[in-house]
Amino acid sequence: MADVRPYPGAPRWVKVSGIVIGALVLLLAIIVFTGVGGGDHGPGRHASPGEAGGHGGGTRGGLPMLLGVLVLGGVALNWGWLVNRALPRLGRSSIVRRWPLWRRTARVPMTMTSGLRKFVLAAHVTSSVGTLGAVTVFLALAVVGLTSQDAQMVRAVYIANGLIAWYIILPLILAALLIGVVQSLSTPWGLFRHYWVLAKLLLTIVTIYVLLNQMDGISYIAGVAAETTLSSADLRGLRNSLWNHAGGGLVVLLVLVGLSIYKPRGMTRYGWRKQHEQREASH
Ligand code: HEM
Repeated sequence: MADVRPYPGAPRWVKVSGIVIGALVLLLAIIVFTGVGGGDHGPGRHASPGEAGGHGGGTRGGLPMLLGVLVLGGVALNWGWLVNRALPRLGRSSIVRRWPLWRRTARVPMTMTSGLRKFVLAAHVTSSVGTLGAVTVFLALAVVGLTSQDAQMVRAVYIANGLIAWYIILPLILAALLIGVVQSLSTPWGLFRHYWVLAKLLLTIVTIYVLLNQMDGISYIAGVAAETTLSSADLRGLRNSLWNHAGGGLVVLLVLVGLSIYKPRGMTRYGWRKQHEQREASH
């Protein structure tokens, strides 16, 4: 029988990311549960008095859900470390050791022909880096919308941002997620085998979630701009929220590109076991 090397644990970058995610979760939890920052989060909260009602209601409860995604992300990324160090007792239980629960049915990833793999990769890079470009344009327009003194320019900017968000950013990022998942499952990378792929999956899902929460506000301000001119004080909170979120999204997208290019080493416990099983099968 082949020698089974013990799982070396999660690499340092994963542990550091876990700590950062933990700190963010804590911060968000404080904001949500103490009501610092006005309680409700979403477009309605940023709108001027009298405009707050009637839209953005769907975001109620959004932050707790985001917190949940972040907690799950932190736990998933640091599972090996948690089992080995933080939960040594729990780690001995058979249920925990059997993670992930679907391992017995997990299959070896399909491999694509080199031509097809290149084609899918080209589609993935086009859609994902296209998202980054579109978010950059959105951010630039959002800043112009806040700073320009030209009323017609301000109207044009918010109308354009509504179109960019619905017809470019949202479809492109959904395509990047879909194609990313397909190519992960169809190449030796796998979806849950390497920490960098898992991190991309979680970050992309969180980004899409935040974007969907913003869509209401983006449409609302585009609608107002289409009907009337905006003074510099109108919908100030909502207009600030547009560039804040676009800036944050841009940073996350840059991290995603960095993860994709550098592909930092580190296999999940699941990936480690799968690699071992494949080696055994090929002997
Ligand atoms: C908007 C978010 C994303 C961005 C900006 C992005 C960016 C990129 C880039 C630039 C590459 C090319 C890297 C190279 O080959 O050197 C790449 C490859 C890859 N991406 Fe993404 N990606 C995103 C989302 C995802 C998601 C959600 C997944 C799946 C969980 C994923 C999985 C992969 C995989 C497995 C590769 C390597 C493919 C191969 O070698 O054939 N990506 N990504």
